[in-house]
Amino acid sequence: MTAVKRIAVLTSGGDSQGMNAAVRAVVRSGLYFGLEVFGVQRGYQGLLNNDIFPMDLRSVGDIIQRGGTVLQSARCKEFMTLEGQQKGADVLRSRGIDGLVVIGGDGSYQGANKLSKLGIKTMGLPGTIDNDISFTDYTIGFDTAVSVVVDAVNKLRDTMTSHERSSIVEVMGRHCGDIALHAGLASGAETILVPEVPFDMDEVAQRMQSNFEHGKRHSIIIVAEGVGKGEDVAKEIMARCPSYEPRVTVLGHIQRGGTPTPFDRNLASKLGDFAVRKLIEGESDKACGIINNQLTLTDIDLVVNTKSSIDMDMYELAIRLSQ
Ligand code: ADP
Ligand code: F6P
Repeated sequence: MTAVKRIAVLTSGGDSQGMNAAVRAVVRSGLYFGLEVFGVQRGYQGLLNNDIFPMDLRSVGDIIQRGGTVLQSARCKEFMTLEGQQKGADVLRSRGIDGLVVIGGDGSYQGANKLSKLGIKTMGLPGTIDNDISFTDYTIGFDTAVSVVVDAVNKLRDTMTSHERSSIVEVMGRHCGDIALHAGLASGAETILVPEVPFDMDEVAQRMQSNFEHGKRHSIIIVAEGVGKGEDVAKEIMARCPSYEPRVTVLGHIQRGGTPTPFDRNLASKLGDFAVRKLIEGESDKACGIINNQLTLTDIDLVVNTKSSIDMDMYELAIRLSQ
């Protein structure tokens, strides 16, 4: 006896690499367990437009390696209203769909929470490069985004060393410094600026100057966008430490594209399958995550009302190793 018979899946908010692997897992696990599975095109907007179609095994073939999302994503204002949410629930009911897997960030989770209050069983999967969702160690796409940044910094290092410059690299992460921190440690950056940790620009510049005097031929500064613009950081550095001439690189949406890493594909596959199994068991209004390599289920309310935190041990390690 399964608690759901027909389920749908959608991707919402900013896309992330690995969303396709998650869609594939939801569809294939759903079909494996005897459910009917539907795809919703363009997130909640597609739900309101009744842009819903049946998915079979072949409809998710050849997508595990692709970035972006074959279901496309959207931001939908109408769905923020109670009327919009009621319409969405009615559309699902009119199709006989009783369960919905939402792949997205905090905002998308809130949409799922609203639908569950209107009688639709929902599961949230953490799809965002920012790694800013609580109750999961990793979000789908984060590992790939970090790889993109590390690859870029490797290249920047070459030319910065030749010219004894500092490279200010602005990375994504609206309110969260995880991309900056993880990429910064992995690429040996001298400075990592994140919104969660206050910093003093004079101290940053003094460390840079001291590194210069001890023979460092470049200085890599990773700035999470939540801190501010790379250009502004460059001006402040130039005023305090002109030894290295600064150059700014804004990586932008390149961080959201490209083939997902094996880590992201596997994370997405595990979480997608887990979400389906939990819906079948009758769970609803839950966010799926992975904590200490264990799959976890947490109330969406709790997830969206808890701020994710930065790993301070990792931050201090990055500083220790960057002299
Ligand atoms: P993310 O899911 O990446 O955080 P957004 O915050 O843009 O992205 O949210 C994606 C979509 O989720 C929004 O466009 C909207 O349709 C829906 N959504 C966001 N917040 C809410 C909310 N409080 N109630 C209902 N739906 C919401
Ligand atoms: O939330 C993911 C994210 O890529 C953030 O890092 C960034 O601030 C934002 O989305 C960019 O949004 P958009 O794609 O709408 O420019």
